[in-house]
Amino acid sequence: MPAIEEQDPALLPQKITHICCIGAGYVGGPTCTVLAQQCPDIVVTIVDVNPVRIAAWNSEDLTQLPVFEPGLAAIVGECRGRNLFFTTDIDKAIDEAQIVFVSVNTPTKTSGIGSGFAADLRYVEASTRRIASVAQTPKIIVEKSTVPCRTAASMRAILEANSKPGTPFQILSNPEFLSEGTAVQDLLHPDRVLIGSLDTAQGRRAAELLSEVYERWVPKERVLHTGLWSSELTKLAANALLAQRISSINAISAICEATGANVYEVADACGVDRRIGPHFLRASVGFGGSCFQKDILNLVYLSGSLGLPEVAEYWRQVIVMNEFSKARFAKKVVQTLFNTVTAKRLALLGFAFKKDTGDTRESPAITLCKHFRQEGAHIAIYDPKVKREQIFLDLTEPGVTDDRKAVEEAVTVCPSVLDACHDAEAVVIATDWDEFSAIDWHKVFNIMRKPAVVFDGRRVVNPAKLREIGFRVHAVGVGPELQDNVWV
Ligand code: UDX
Ligand code: ADP
Repeated sequence: MPAIEEQDPALLPQKITHICCIGAGYVGGPTCTVLAQQCPDIVVTIVDVNPVRIAAWNSEDLTQLPVFEPGLAAIVGECRGRNLFFTTDIDKAIDEAQIVFVSVNTPTKTSGIGSGFAADLRYVEASTRRIASVAQTPKIIVEKSTVPCRTAASMRAILEANSKPGTPFQILSNPEFLSEGTAVQDLLHPDRVLIGSLDTAQGRRAAELLSEVYERWVPKERVLHTGLWSSELTKLAANALLAQRISSINAISAICEATGANVYEVADACGVDRRIGPHFLRASVGFGGSCFQKDILNLVYLSGSLGLPEVAEYWRQVIVMNEFSKARFAKKVVQTLFNTVTAKRLALLGFAFKKDTGDTRESPAITLCKHFRQEGAHIAIYDPKVKREQIFLDLTEPGVTDDRKAVEEAVTVCPSVLDACHDAEAVVIATDWDEFSAIDWHKVFNIMRKPAVVFDGRRVVNPAKLREIGFRVHAVGVGPELQDNVWV
C-alpha cells in the first residue's frame, strides 16, 4: 500500500451514502441521531458492543432510551427505521459506510503508565483494529471521542499495518463540543464544527467531504478547518478553559463567604466586561461530568510527558480547586449542623452532575455522599432522572467503597422531594434541576426536624424567602451577613 501522502484523493469515497458510528453513548447517540435527521439521504447506523444499550436505543417506549436529552426521543422516533439504525452488527455497518465515526469511551487510566491521568485508549484501538480488519472500500475515519493529541497518528499506524491492500483511508479529528442537557440544541446550532486533517490533498479532500455533510445544516463559516493535532488539542484546551473559569469563580466564592461579599454580584460585575464575558461563572459546589476532569488530567499528563512540569502543575490546580470546593461545601454542612451529622438524616436533592441529564459521571453529589457517609450520616436522595441502581453503583465504585451493604444501610433513594426531606435535619441541593426552584418550601419546612437548614450548592433557592418561613440557609459564595441579599 502506498504511503498515505502519496495516495490519490480520487481513491477516497466519492459520495457519502452511509455513515457508521462506533459507540452508542452520550456522544455517539445524540450526535449521529441529529446527523440522521439533518441528512435524510444518508443511512446512519450506530453500533455498539453492548447489546443492552442497543436494545434500549431500539425500545418501543421512547422514554427508555439509554441517554436522556431534551428533544432527543422525538428525533429518534422520527428517524429510527427510516435512515437511522441501532445495531450490534458492527462489521456490516463498517463495511457499508464511507465515513466511520469513532465515539467510544476514553476513560482515565486506572493502572499502569499514566494511571490517574492519561486516557485509556483501549476502546479506540479496538475500534480501529476492527475497521482495519473489515474495510474493503475507502474509508474516512473520524475521531469523535476526546483523545490525547496524536491519537490520530496511532490510529493511522494501526490502519497502515492492518488494512487490506486497495482500501485507502483518511483519519480526521472532529471533536464534539456538545454539552449534556442541551445536546440537541448544541448539535443543531453549534458555535463551531471543528475538522482537523492532514495537510495533504487527500486529507483536505476528506475534510471537505465531512464538511459537506455538516453544511447541510451548519453555516459554512462555522465549520473550521485545522491540522489534526490542533483539532485534538482544541478539545482538551476548550474544556480546560471552561473548567478553569468555574474553579476561578469557586475560589473567589470562598473569599466571598469569608468576607461577606456576594459571589453572584462579583461574577455579574466581572462578566459584563466583554473581555471576560458572563458564561461559566456560576459559583457551585463544584463541577462534574465526564469531560472536564478527564480532559484536564489528560492535559496534565501530556504537559508532564512533554517535559513541561510548570504547565502540568498550572492545569492541575483547576482540579485541586474543584476538590477543595466540594470538600469545603461538605465541611460547611457538618459544621453548621453542630459539628456532627452522625445518625442525622440529610436530604440530598439531585444526583446528576447537572440538570436535564441522567448522567452521574464525576457528579459532585458522589463526593458529597462520600463525605457525609464518613461522618456517619443517613442520606435520603432524590433525583428526577437518575435511577436507584445507578446511585448505588456510583456509591460503591472502587475509590468510594466496596461495601454495598453498608451503603444500602446509609442511603435511601426516594421517589420525591418530600419523601427525601421527611424528618431530615438539612436539605443539600447538589444539582440545578428546574423543579427544585418550584419546591413548596412551606410543606418541606413542616416535615423537617428543627432547626431546618438548607445548603444550596447551585443557587436554586431564594434564601430571603426561605428564612421568612423559618429555615436557616447557606448559599455557596455568599457571606453570612449578606445571605438574605443574594437575590437583590
Ligand atoms: C462540557 C463542555 O461544556 C462541552 O463543550 C464538552 O463537549 C463536554 O464537557 P458538560 O460536561 O456536558 O459539557 O456540561 P457543562 O455545562 O460544561 O457543565 C459541566 C459542569 O460544570 C457541571 O457540573 C455544571 O453544573 C458545572 N458548571 C457549569 C458550574 O458549576 N458553573 C458554571 O458556570 C457552569
Ligand atoms: P461517551 O460519553 O464518550 O459517549 P459512553 O460510555 O457514554 O461514552 O459511550 C461509549 C460507548 O462506546 C459505550 O456504549 C461502549 O459500549 C461503546 N464501545 C466501547 N468500545 C467499543 C468497541 N470497540 N466497539 C463498539 N462499541 C464500543
